Amino acid sequence: MIDGVAGMKHPADGAGLHVGIIMDGNGRWAAARGLPRFEGHRRGVEALRRTVRAANELGVRYLTVYSFSSENWARPPQEIADLMGLLKLFIRSDLHTLEEAGVRVRIIGERDNLKPEIVALLEEAENRTRRNTKLDLIVAFNYGARQEIVEAARALARDVAAGRLNPEDIDEAAFAARLCTAGAPDPDLIIRTSGEMRLSNFLMWQAAYSELVFLPVFWPDFDRAAFEQAIVSFRSRERRFGGVGPAPVAKVASAS
Ligand code: IPE
Ligand code: IPE
Ligand code: MG
Repeated sequence: MIDGVAGMKHPADGAGLHVGIIMDGNGRWAAARGLPRFEGHRRGVEALRRTVRAANELGVRYLTVYSFSSENWARPPQEIADLMGLLKLFIRSDLHTLEEAGVRVRIIGERDNLKPEIVALLEEAENRTRRNTKLDLIVAFNYGARQEIVEAARALARDVAAGRLNPEDIDEAAFAARLCTAGAPDPDLIIRTSGEMRLSNFLMWQAAYSELVFLPVFWPDFDRAAFEQAIVSFRSRERRFGGVGPAPVAKVASAS
């Protein structure tokens, strides 16, 4: 949490929030500078490092970052190899810092088609941080929401076929419990950088009532100021959840 006017939340207070981020625009950031796309991805990892630190400072409770989609396999093999390499580098170089900072790492997405050495690293990151409780960093890697929803439907069908579940008992909670985000609340805020305004198969079930903020900065340029700007925008929204008036949300101070 950050300090605000007495008794009120600072407008950029992220306390308790679940923030999702679609980290987009690495390639365009690089192209604008005449650099190879890899350089954009490399700088994108630095932005991620900064963002996790900022999330912790702002009091964010859950941070879900989209780092590789099920559809990103459509990219050239060299770029895919670069992205896999950067994930390995990030875990190897940052795991200790994350561990010390109270961050619990969780990776969501398909693991079957990943190389065993990557799967081992993902498991190590989860195991070494599983007792941390300050910030949950959920990395959506090789993730696609449609695939996740299909998988949840399959799990329900299996339970019904095995006689463990009555079809009449399938409700939203039963469905959500079989998604890979089970246990985490739905995101309050989803930020997408790069100016694109779409979800690109990110958390489609969970985003039903998320506030969406689209920022015109490329991901490698994302910083604490941009993060705060997105939270300020979120705090100014009226979340209705289908009702007629504002849901009771924490009051925010007008001064920053
Ligand atoms: C986001 O940047 C990183 C990944 C999708 C892995 P992009 O690589 O999509 O960058 P743009 O959108 O081409 O600029
Ligand atoms: C979404 O970005 C996936 C990630 C940020 C990891 P893309 O760049 O893949 O999305 P599209 O193709 O522009 O929709
Ligand atoms: Mg993109």
